[in-house]
Amino acid sequence: MESAESRIVKALLESGKSHVAGSRLAEFLGVSRVTIWTHMENLRRDGFSIEAVRNKGYRLDHVPDGLSEPYLHCLLPELAEESRLVFHRQTGSTNRDAERLLAEGKDAPFVVMARRQTAGRGRLGRRWQSDDESNLYASFAFRPLATPERMRDFTLWIGASVCRCLEEESGLKPGLKWPNDVWFGDRKMGGILTEAKVNADQILELVLGIGLNVNSAPATWPAPLCHEAVSLREALGRSVDINRLTATLVKSILKAYESFLAGDHRDKFRALWERYDLLHGREVTAYQGTEQVTGKAAGIDEHGRLRVITGSGETVLLSAGDVTLRPGWD
Ligand code: BTN
Repeated sequence: MESAESRIVKALLESGKSHVAGSRLAEFLGVSRVTIWTHMENLRRDGFSIEAVRNKGYRLDHVPDGLSEPYLHCLLPELAEESRLVFHRQTGSTNRDAERLLAEGKDAPFVVMARRQTAGRGRLGRRWQSDDESNLYASFAFRPLATPERMRDFTLWIGASVCRCLEEESGLKPGLKWPNDVWFGDRKMGGILTEAKVNADQILELVLGIGLNVNSAPATWPAPLCHEAVSLREALGRSVDINRLTATLVKSILKAYESFLAGDHRDKFRALWERYDLLHGREVTAYQGTEQVTGKAAGIDEHGRLRVITGSGETVLLSAGDVTLRPGWD
């Protein structure tokens, strides 16, 4: 059932620069004008700027800089209707929530989102900075029932699909730092963490979490993040409608998952990866177990492994880990 606040947001968006009378909204929703006023206060708390003029009504002046459940419900009505969109104002980790819901038997795919995380997880056991309410924290839950072998380059494909979506939406060209960091220029804008529950030969449950700096100001965060991170807002020089961007990303990630399972991605994957590959031709240092590998990155192979050509001309294939760009790489 569509919530009253989501129906109000829809009415305000549809009326654009004109005012909507409180009496009309009250009649439309079958509630009192006082109840409408309370909903408007809730929406303001969510970050909507709503002008109220006596004898004219309400007008939407500014959409929120952070995620808003009623706005997302307006933008993703089918998902909301089917209870495939789980929203928290605050949670520990959306990846953790998605895992729990999968374990409880919830129908997949579904998406868990939060305005803020108190225990956001990053790759390799790191923490993900998640207390800024103007960024995106979302986890996608799937039951692929496919072999780990078959799903091997799934996260890379999603990373490339996220970059394509960001480029289409913002006009900026992001970069992918293998395996799945989204960068802009020489700073990190987002990351993807995939966690799976595997039995003998199948991935039963898969959670793909994405964190994206959207309207925040990482330059004000403590070191070293202030030097390493960037937001879309900083890169664009203006704030972004995070809820519209999120709705578009959600649709494109769900579509990318479908095309991956159907195998339709195969023809497109290589070209898409190369379009955004930030490391190609650059000097990198990586670890293969405890061994340090240094050389020139040369794209990925058919299994999604990073090719590094060492000084002696040997090609080393990396299947996991972290890569750093060597100083003076550009
Ligand atoms: C990385 O280390 O680059 C991956 C970061 C992934 C962070 C996202 S935020 C939403 C989801 N929930 C989490 O706890 N982590 C992922």
